[in-house]
Amino acid sequence: MMSGVNVAVFGATGAVGVEMVKVLEERSLSVNGLRLLASRGERTMKWRGGEVPVEAVGPSSFEGIDIALFAVEGDVSREWAPVAARSGAVVIDNSSAFRMDPDVPLVVPEINPEDIAAHKGIIANPNCSTIIALIALAPIHRAVGIKRLVASTYQAVSGAGKAGLDELERQTRDYAQGKPLSVSAFQYQIAFNLIPHIDAFGEDDYTKEELKMRNESRKILHAPDLRVSCTCVRVPVMRSHSEALTIETERAISPEEAREILRGAPGVKVGDAADEKKYPMPLDTADHSLS
Ligand SMILES: NC(=O)c1ccc[n+]([C@@H]2O[C@H](COP(=O)([O-])OP(=O)(O)OC[C@H]3O[C@@H](n4cnc5c(N)ncnc54)[C@H](OP(=O)(O)O)[C@@H]3O)[C@@H](O)[C@H]2O)c1
Repeated sequence: MMSGVNVAVFGATGAVGVEMVKVLEERSLSVNGLRLLASRGERTMKWRGGEVPVEAVGPSSFEGIDIALFAVEGDVSREWAPVAARSGAVVIDNSSAFRMDPDVPLVVPEINPEDIAAHKGIIANPNCSTIIALIALAPIHRAVGIKRLVASTYQAVSGAGKAGLDELERQTRDYAQGKPLSVSAFQYQIAFNLIPHIDAFGEDDYTKEELKMRNESRKILHAPDLRVSCTCVRVPVMRSHSEALTIETERAISPEEAREILRGAPGVKVGDAADEKKYPMPLDTADHSLS
């Protein structure tokens, strides 16, 4: 474990940034100094019983920083990640800006931590749906080889950031009060609806969100020939994405063998027992850490 590091959270006021600050408080990483960055200052955030000012990002924001956690949109990451890396910080970027860059490792700590060694100042964090899928699939891939994945996702509005969370809450409240619903964060009304459209449409009419599952899975698992078809759907759930994953394996594997592998896998909790009406649900998994 590293000790006594200076950490910056860039995008600290957003949906992901707020969670990062919370997790930093919970974990054992020894943080000497915490710098909170966003588009503007004039705000504070709670940290270890006190308050830390939010600062507007600028050319000297990353001086003296060891680890810079980026939770901003891709174009903002593209602008500032090289600045932070030149200042000597290691950037861990949550956006899609650098994920497929061959010079940038794409890492899930439970799966391919060894890839970090090749970093040149920037490490990318995968798409949220890809992380969730691979945490469960990587141990099975290692055991029996996965040839093909058919994935369906049920993605919470939290994936669209603070604007997405606010929109579902507002539309639900307005609906209950008989008021007209306004739409801004999503393409259509999300309350009492499903929207099979996350990010822009790309090749073969898959959305970019669906293509991320294919491209990022191949990179993380070092499996360039993995066949992936993914359907991503936004659902009116506040937090916690759900997924159905169907796989074809090189070697046959029984459900019990798969459960056994998953019981010992880092970051996985096996929670299905149909005869006891037990299965994973977003209300039970939101805001839970397994480590
Ligand atoms: N939400 C998720 O579940 C999720 C999951 C995985 C990855 N991601 C990725 O993580 C990133 C952040 O997502 P989010 O959902 O947290 O977004 P968000 O809630 O909209 O937060 C955006 C953050 O970026 C800051 N910001 C916006 N424009 C800026 C600019 N021009 N210069 C400096 N700071 C700026 C905002 O600061 P202000 O308060 O000053 O506006 C805010 O702190 C995105 O790349 C997203 O794709 C999100």
